[in-house]
Amino acid sequence: METKNIGLRGIEVADTKISNIDGEKGKLIYRGFDILDLTKNSTFEETSYLLLYDKLPTKQQLDEFNTKLIDARFIPKQMQKNMANWRKDADPMDMLQAFVAALAGYYDEEFSNKEASYDKAINLIAKVPTIIASWHRIRNGLATVDPDPTLSHAANFLYMMFGKKPDPEVEKIFDVCLILHGDHTFNASTFTARQVASTRAHMYSAASAAIGALSGELHGGANTEVMKMLLDIGEVGKTEQWIKKEMSAGAKIMGMGHAVYKTYDPRAQVLKELSRKLAEKTKDPWFDITEKVETVTISEMKLQKNKEIYPNVDLYSASLYYMLKIPLDLNTPIFAIARVVGWAAHIIEEKFAEAAPKTALYRPKAVYVGKYCGPQGCEYQTLNLRK
Ligand SMILES: CC(C)(COP(=O)(O)OP(=O)(O)OC[C@H]1O[C@@H](n2cnc3c(N)ncnc32)[C@H](O)[C@@H]1OP(=O)(O)O)[C@@H](O)C(=O)NCCC(=O)NCCS
Repeated sequence: METKNIGLRGIEVADTKISNIDGEKGKLIYRGFDILDLTKNSTFEETSYLLLYDKLPTKQQLDEFNTKLIDARFIPKQMQKNMANWRKDADPMDMLQAFVAALAGYYDEEFSNKEASYDKAINLIAKVPTIIASWHRIRNGLATVDPDPTLSHAANFLYMMFGKKPDPEVEKIFDVCLILHGDHTFNASTFTARQVASTRAHMYSAASAAIGALSGELHGGANTEVMKMLLDIGEVGKTEQWIKKEMSAGAKIMGMGHAVYKTYDPRAQVLKELSRKLAEKTKDPWFDITEKVETVTISEMKLQKNKEIYPNVDLYSASLYYMLKIPLDLNTPIFAIARVVGWAAHIIEEKFAEAAPKTALYRPKAVYVGKYCGPQGCEYQTLNLRK
């Protein structure tokens, strides 16, 4: 007996007005806007406003939104003191999940209306980078760096991490990375956030659950695996042999292939050009190795299986973050810096849906394949419980 709908693949579970993927055409839209346009013409702050409020802000609305973010970026000193008690080798995703949940203990408990939820969303979006950067400094025995009110969201994170303001080109590259990771429909962490919110649990609770989902290697961890692969390959000249050996042994090449996109992932297109640009500046080999991974995997796939395969978002983000000197174990937390905006938008949509989109408490059905026990002992029944 096989369970239908394992993992809810292809099952429609809720309406949304937030984002959409066209896997055949390789298009991703946020609130109706193509992400390629947003990467060219918007900023992470403006895109966050769009994802949350379903409209592009006026100049005044954006200024007000920015001011709220600036005010909310500081985290309580007590929180940083608590971090200092953690094991220095603790996984940053565990730390992030714990301290996001802890926000409910530091800030007011008003979650009952939509307006209050927007405030919680801004608090969350503003504080996630500060939590991650604080942890990075504390675990390395360095003094924490306070956020700078004159810097953008992207620049602030890099500043709080490294204690030095990034140059404008690096800031722009990181800003675009954040825009690209802002939302991606019902991926595992977003669905987790919505599922928790469907019980009417609050914003911090739903977001911390989403961080737990993102921490798994089948979801947020893939770009770290890509970087490990690049480090193992080591130089362009060794790439072809490395990929052919892995693929002949049936291994999957990290950063290649996607469950929804059947063509080039539009985010990978942008990240590829950013990685190329950064490598020209840093003279690192990682872009060239990645590009070779792409071409060899595509040709091997054709040869071995007569199938097409394309890079996904993780292929070129790995080298990018590495060239930005971000430690490998912070790749997934950085994903959270951007995706928390999508989670917040989905949590608000799930909790405060009016006439449309329609939502309901999630309660799927399980197929019981365990035993039935009585005085005569236990037995397994072969009833088809789905009928
Ligand atoms: C993401 C992923 C699970 C999508 O899988 P999918 O669309 O369900 O595609 P399938 O697993 O059905 O793969 C179709 C075929 O291509 C092969 N294939 C898919 N991705 C591959 C990869 N990265 N490397 C080598 N072969 C791959 C599969 O083995 C399969 O071959 P088969 O038909 O002989 O069984 C898969 O591409 C993958 O594991 N990629 C690597 C991990 C990764 O980068 N994850 C991040 C995703 S954003």
